[in-house]
Amino acid sequence: MERLQKVIAAMGYCSRRKAEELIQKGLVQVDGKIVTELGTKVGKGQEIIVEGNLLQNTEKEYYLLNKPRGVITSTKDDKNRKTVVDLIPTEKRIYPVGRLDYDTTGALLLTNDGTLANALTHPSSNLEKVYIAKVKGIAGGEHLVPLKNGVILDDVKIIPDRVKLRKVDKEHGTSIVEITIHDGKYHEVKRLFEQVGLEVIKLKRESFAFLDVKKLPSGSYRKLTPKEVNCLYTYVNKNK
Ligand code: URA
Repeated sequence: MERLQKVIAAMGYCSRRKAEELIQKGLVQVDGKIVTELGTKVGKGQEIIVEGNLLQNTEKEYYLLNKPRGVITSTKDDKNRKTVVDLIPTEKRIYPVGRLDYDTTGALLLTNDGTLANALTHPSSNLEKVYIAKVKGIAGGEHLVPLKNGVILDDVKIIPDRVKLRKVDKEHGTSIVEITIHDGKYHEVKRLFEQVGLEVIKLKRESFAFLDVKKLPSGSYRKLTPKEVNCLYTYVNKNK
């Protein structure tokens, strides 16, 4: 058994002092009952709700990784290549939510929460993913208009949520295009560009739902906060 404020802080919700404040204000519930006593002790398996946010059981772990190139999105590899799981030291059996290609970088979620992982990868989740693609050649209307209008992949018309030309490098003959999609087909972004005559030479997933890797250096990771986990649950439940 541990003191409630210590458990709230350990779960990454806020500092211990802030947790004490929230308890005294009556904003913390344990197993459905408001607790205002600072000395209250709680054990594993008890349900703690702070300001309406359910703190997830500590057995569950959630990480946001900025995946580097040359790492496989899997838990193990027959060819003994490094996997995304090797980049996060934990005792828990975490696995990636969806996949990024070996040479794709950027936002990747890893967890041992199967319920959330399944919901996030289900087509109905409608999760927005923003990719930044470096393509060969000068991207123009002749490529981007058909892309915006939709491209057939595996007999299904894929209409990106957004397509934006970010930069053209005339000297090197390359362009940077931002594309937002909500499906998760195999090699989807590379194949969408290929269909409109552009070859992707570099690909980065900048964000996954509301989680982005702008402040995470390549190869590094962070734990999601309980609020972020709750938001992901709200997100998938909303789109059920
Ligand atoms: N689309 C791709 O083509 N590759 C990825 O890694 C992700 C999306």
